[in-house]
Amino acid sequence: MTKITVVGAGFVGMSCAQRLAEQEVAEDVVLIDVVEGKPQGLALDITQAGAIQGYQVNLLGTNDPADTAGWDLVIMTAGLPRKPGMDRSDLLEVNGKIVTQVAAYVAGESPDSRVVLVSNPLDTMVHLMAEKLGFPKSRVVGMAGVLDSARMAAFIADSMGGGIQDVRCMVLGGHGDSMVPMPGFSTVNGVSLPSMMGDEEIQGINDRTRNGGAEIVNLLKTGSAFYAPSAAAVAMAKAIVRNESRLLPCSAWLEGQYGLDGIYMGVPVILGRDGVERIVELELDEGGQAKLEASASAIGSDIKTLEGLGLL
Ligand code: LAC
Repeated sequence: MTKITVVGAGFVGMSCAQRLAEQEVAEDVVLIDVVEGKPQGLALDITQAGAIQGYQVNLLGTNDPADTAGWDLVIMTAGLPRKPGMDRSDLLEVNGKIVTQVAAYVAGESPDSRVVLVSNPLDTMVHLMAEKLGFPKSRVVGMAGVLDSARMAAFIADSMGGGIQDVRCMVLGGHGDSMVPMPGFSTVNGVSLPSMMGDEEIQGINDRTRNGGAEIVNLLKTGSAFYAPSAAAVAMAKAIVRNESRLLPCSAWLEGQYGLDGIYMGVPVILGRDGVERIVELELDEGGQAKLEASASAIGSDIKTLEGLGLL
């Protein structure tokens, strides 16, 4: 029996619950939120859609952490989204408090779970969650690279006129303005991107990828993206509960890899039953390494802010 809990019934959380149900990823799914009635209503709605779509899931909507006891995997989505003009780091304090509260009951109810965190600012929040949980760091992982890589793939497909399913991309570093698209590790069905596009076109795609979340925030005006973020979180959840050992870019705890130590940041990992099984070290040129280090120092300054607030 696999039991997955989605924390937070906002747009990302409810889309995760829907995807988990439609793809029958787990026998039991719990959707928990502090707002009374919302997770319960969404759970009924998603369950009823199963009669039409042909899926079966035991989906419970609840406000009570006790209902989540014994879960195998937690997808943590709770937190406020950005508004137009906001940086992901502007959410540090408010989301830091939410992550701290959730970590307390996850640690108490489900000490053996693995955690996929989505809340922003991503790399800082996954660090905070892991510290508060006290779990081995390999069991706590952040969702960002899969999303940013999907955005890059969409922009490449758009630029080339279609074929998104053939595009595989790699975006590393922090999930913020300093993220590092890796065109040299991006391919169209095995054909490397630089052999298919000029530098200027690639640069335009890199820039749009870095700004991909903000582009959607500015269009929506009252929230941030949720279809691609939930697809990314559920792909990671599947990799874990089905022990797929997929190579995916995720925010993982670094202990010397890429010359970085004691920090969560986006790197390629092998993701399976126990969470991060291995960190894959790519051979980067000097420019790529410098960009990763710049991204790490941006995350480091958010961590300092969190410490200054007394949250870490
Ligand atoms: C985004 C949020 C999930 O990039 O950070 O859309």
